[in-house]
Amino acid sequence: MKALVINGPNLNMLGIREPGIYGSDSYAELERICHEAACELGFAEVEVFQSNHEGTIVDKIQGALGHFDGIVINPAAYTHTSIAILDALKAVNLPAVEVHISNVDAREEFRQISYAGMACFARVTGEGLAGYRHALALLADRLHSK
Ligand code: DQA
Repeated sequence: MKALVINGPNLNMLGIREPGIYGSDSYAELERICHEAACELGFAEVEVFQSNHEGTIVDKIQGALGHFDGIVINPAAYTHTSIAILDALKAVNLPAVEVHISNVDAREEFRQISYAGMACFARVTGEGLAGYRHALALLADRLHSK
């Protein structure tokens, strides 16, 4: 089992950006949690990727085909705007889990729509960085039940 974790814009600023919403842990801690969780859950490989650019994220999703068995994705602000990321997820048709650090459902109206989520089989929100472990566990369960 190989997993790709994709993070969208401004998530590289974790620990600095709005700590009241996203916490004080850094992006390096997010990477560490994903590697630790993936190892414990039996993934042979996990790549943790971040980009501030929509097209780069689309390229990364397309490149996952044939290399990864599933995707965990936090598209960040692109969640609420990007049909291109939704279409890329649909194109590769890999099992995908949407994850958000904050509880987007309890935030502004404009965060209520999730395009990427329409191509995901599960959604984890409001669990902080621990949500990435939860998302990887859901992906592992899905891959085991194939
Ligand atoms: C986020 C929520 C988004 O609305 C926001 O634009 C982000 C982060 C989260 O993880 O809570 O950048 O995806």
